Parts: sequence; structure tokens; C-alpha cells
Amino acid sequence: MDVWLVFGYVVIIILLCIIVVGVSAVWPSLIGAPWVPVSRETAWKMLDLAQVNPEDSVLDLGSGDGRIIIMAAEKFGAKAFGIEADPLRVLWSRCAIRRRGLSKMVAVMWGNFFSQNLLDATVVTVYQGQKINKRLQAKLATELKAGTRVISYSFPFEEWTPIKTLRNPHLYLYVV
Ligand SMILES: C[S@@+](CC[C@H](N)C(=O)[O-])C[C@H]1O[C@@H](n2cnc3c(N)ncnc32)[C@H](O)[C@@H]1O
Repeated sequence: MDVWLVFGYVVIIILLCIIVVGVSAVWPSLIGAPWVPVSRETAWKMLDLAQVNPEDSVLDLGSGDGRIIIMAAEKFGAKAFGIEADPLRVLWSRCAIRRRGLSKMVAVMWGNFFSQNLLDATVVTVYQGQKINKRLQAKLATELKAGTRVISYSFPFEEWTPIKTLRNPHLYLYVV
């Protein structure tokens, strides 16, 4: 094969990698919080505080590496769904879901949660920032079914009154 052709392919592959890594690193921070995962213990407490059960459909807004949705299915028997902006974390979490044989219970969508409809969830988990929570509040209030539990880590929804709070870690549970 022509050396220049091979060189061209290598340059294209390197450029594609740079674009994917760039999107992965920058885009989520522009539209929400960057990736800072909850600990497994906090993930457990979030799901436990919301009393997640096999009847539930759990939605994690900004699902990162998928740890909350995987735990919701594995330990609480719920169906779970994540929306994540970072393409590399979507890939990572899809591999983890498949490796654990959870493909029928857990799914992750690549995208911006502000552009998705949230209708089907019965429990919504959120670990974003104060500003994002402010923007999210109106969306959650209009799109979620009455009775949906919303559990936020670290940052409250200022215009709602939580029905339960935890101090360590800081968790806020609301019912829409
Ligand atoms: C603080 S991390 C929480 C990750 C995960 N929920 C956890 O608790 O381990 C926030 C995540 O939200 C994602 N994110 C931020 N804004 C987003 C948006 N508008 N749509 C989808 N994902 C978003 C980031 O890429 C990041 O993975």
C-alpha cells in the first residue's frame, strides 16, 4: 500500500481520537457538571433513601460510568436508565452493563438530558451543581409523573421542600 495513504489514514484516526477526547472532556462541563463520581456507598444511600424497588424505573441524569444505574438493577432489582453527555463514559458504562449481563434491565443514552423527555422514570437521581439544579427544577416539575421521587446529592432544589434529608452524605429526597 502507498506509504502516503497509510500516513493519511493514521492522521485521520489521530484527529478522530482528539475530537472524541475533546468532546468527552469539554462538552459535559459546558452543559452541566463535569464527571465526579459518587462513591459506591453514596450511590447505595441514594437508592436506599428513595426506597428503590423492582417496580421502579430509575433514571440517572448524567450517569457517568453507570455506577448508580448498575447498582439500581443489581442490588435493588429495578429497571434503570442513564443519560450521559460524555461519549467515552457512555461507551465505558455500556461495556460494564454488558459485562454484568444487565442489558435487559439497564440502558444508557448518549445525549443532553435537557433535550430528553423524562416521562417514564419513577425515581430520578441527580448529582449536578446548584445552577444546573435550578434549570432542571422546571423541567422535572413539568415532565415527571406525580409521585416520582427525585434524589439529589450535595445540592438541593431550592424551591422544593425535601421530604427526607441526610447529612452524611448530603442527600435530599423530594416527591414531585
Ligand atoms: C458529577 S457527575 C455524576 C456522575 C454519576 N451520576 C455519579 O453520580 O457517579 C455529572 C455527570 O453528568 C454528566 N453531564 C453533565 N451535564 C450533562 C447533560 N446536560 N446531559 C447529560 N449528561 C451530563 C457529566 O458528563 C458527568 O458524567
